[in-house]
Amino acid sequence: MLILGFESSCDETGVALYDQERGLLAHALHSQVAMHRDYGGVVPELASRDHIRRTIPLLRKVLDESGRSLGEVGAIAYTQGPGLAGALLVGAAFAEALATSLGVPTVPVHHLEGHLLSPLLSSRPPRFPFVALLVSGGHTQLMRVSAVGEYELLGETLDDAAGEAFDKTAKLLGLGYPGGPALSALAEQGTPGAVKLPRPMANSGDLMFSFSGLKTAVLTQVRERTLSAQEKADVACGFQEAIVEVLVKKSLQAVKDCGLKQLVVAGGVGANRELRRQLDAKAARRGIEVYYPELEFCTDNGAMIALAGALRLQAGTAPKAAGSFAVRPRWPLAEISV
Ligand code: KG4
Ligand code: ZN
Repeated sequence: MLILGFESSCDETGVALYDQERGLLAHALHSQVAMHRDYGGVVPELASRDHIRRTIPLLRKVLDESGRSLGEVGAIAYTQGPGLAGALLVGAAFAEALATSLGVPTVPVHHLEGHLLSPLLSSRPPRFPFVALLVSGGHTQLMRVSAVGEYELLGETLDDAAGEAFDKTAKLLGLGYPGGPALSALAEQGTPGAVKLPRPMANSGDLMFSFSGLKTAVLTQVRERTLSAQEKADVACGFQEAIVEVLVKKSLQAVKDCGLKQLVVAGGVGANRELRRQLDAKAARRGIEVYYPELEFCTDNGAMIALAGALRLQAGTAPKAAGSFAVRPRWPLAEISV
């Protein structure tokens, strides 16, 4: 069966077509980064309006690229939450209306489930069970993933998410939005060890995180005096070293605690090169395999939503009759099951 997927929870519009037998047929994405840049962050109302503009052209592109027609679609998956209410409503309303007109059911999907399952789109997918480190702009969580719909929360951040910490720290250093990629690029120019920042909760003995103190530590450095370009790069490097060290330490601890040998990294921060370098090196020494989604599937996209919808149906989730719907801007992942 063909599953059409829509993602619109934040500042990316994603559409994809997934074949339960053949895998991903096509996907298309529009990022609103350029539009939000002038404001230093996502403006929810602008995001919603842009999703309206982008959805149909992206859908046409996906159908053209796959050579398939709407009449062949068997079900429509879309992100029901969590995310920006208005942005979610655009995707949900479009998906439900299209499904109604086609006479097919829908599969509302949890955005983070999409991220958790996204490594399965890879040519070298992990096998269940595995531990997943979910590091995005809104979330930092360690989960035990036993099967589709079976997710156990092992630990999470008490305050800022890892991506949020990258974004806020980038802002403090005068870098543009989105801050994560800009900050990590600047960090590459820095001298490792030149600026030593705290490793929050590194020795807390549990799998919880806290990143807001790190941002404050950077603020203190920035406030004291005007930093030269090299000093800024050193602070960026010190920040990245601290955040990466804590993420790596707790992720490997989680894999060990669960008695497993596979770690999956999902979410936008999973694109961070230093995080990948450190994880690969330290995991290899312990015989742990680390899986990353392809870079294009690390950040928000429609393919992971179409995939999650397809896998949910395969796992026995009853499809929903198209028509009425509600979005869930706040939605703990632990609440979902098959
Ligand atoms: O998963 P995602 O696209 O959206 C959410 O669901 O939040 O993640 C976006 C986050 C942003 O905070 C962005 O700054 C961060 O991922 N990010 C990075 C990198 N690329 C994206 N953070 C650090 N290093 C990167 N290379
Ligand atoms: Zn996301």
